[in-house]
Amino acid sequence: MKLVFATNNKNKLEEVKAMLTNFEIVSLADINCFEDIPETAATFEGNAKLKANYITKKYGLNCFADDTGLEVEALNNEPGVLSARYSGEHHNSEANMQKLLHNLKNISNRKAQFRTAVALNINNKQFIFEGICKGEILDEKTGENGFGYDPIFKPIGYKKSFAQMELSEKGIISHRGKAIKKLVDFLKNKTW
Ligand code: IMP
Repeated sequence: MKLVFATNNKNKLEEVKAMLTNFEIVSLADINCFEDIPETAATFEGNAKLKANYITKKYGLNCFADDTGLEVEALNNEPGVLSARYSGEHHNSEANMQKLLHNLKNISNRKAQFRTAVALNINNKQFIFEGICKGEILDEKTGENGFGYDPIFKPIGYKKSFAQMELSEKGIISHRGKAIKKLVDFLKNKTW
């Protein structure tokens, strides 16, 4: 069965393709969708639904979409759905991290979590999957791997940041890894 993953992120795509070998997973580029799909909802779940629904409605295809962000307890769960554009529309990870570190200056509560929502549209039904990774915001950037806020996020129970982990290690404990695992198990079980 053909299933659109509403992304053009090559890393995410390869990761999911390897886990779902019984499906023909195709990207937005594969279906010639080059529009900027609006992500205007107030929640991750809402944004994931917006993306999946856009594709299913416009192309009539089964589809899943993900949306992720960082929630910092002391900042009323900011940056949340604004994670990519916390410091402006330029989607600059360095500026986003500097803004977050600045806003947490002299604040001892460093608790934070990444949250991913996945919305799946399949055979005219919709299913939602969620993954959370709890941790804390470091005082300064540590590590070279990963992307986004990885250098300043340390998951609970680990002595290193996401940016000091290999992709395979991060994938097992990460928000997105957990949400995608739920999606994969669901699709494999054929209860839909
Ligand atoms: P997206 O919904 O996956 O595009 O994520 C939105 C934003 O959240 C990204 O632009 C990053 O700033 C941040 N983000 C998402 N996932 C991660 C992650 O695994 N590590 C660090 N930052 C992330």
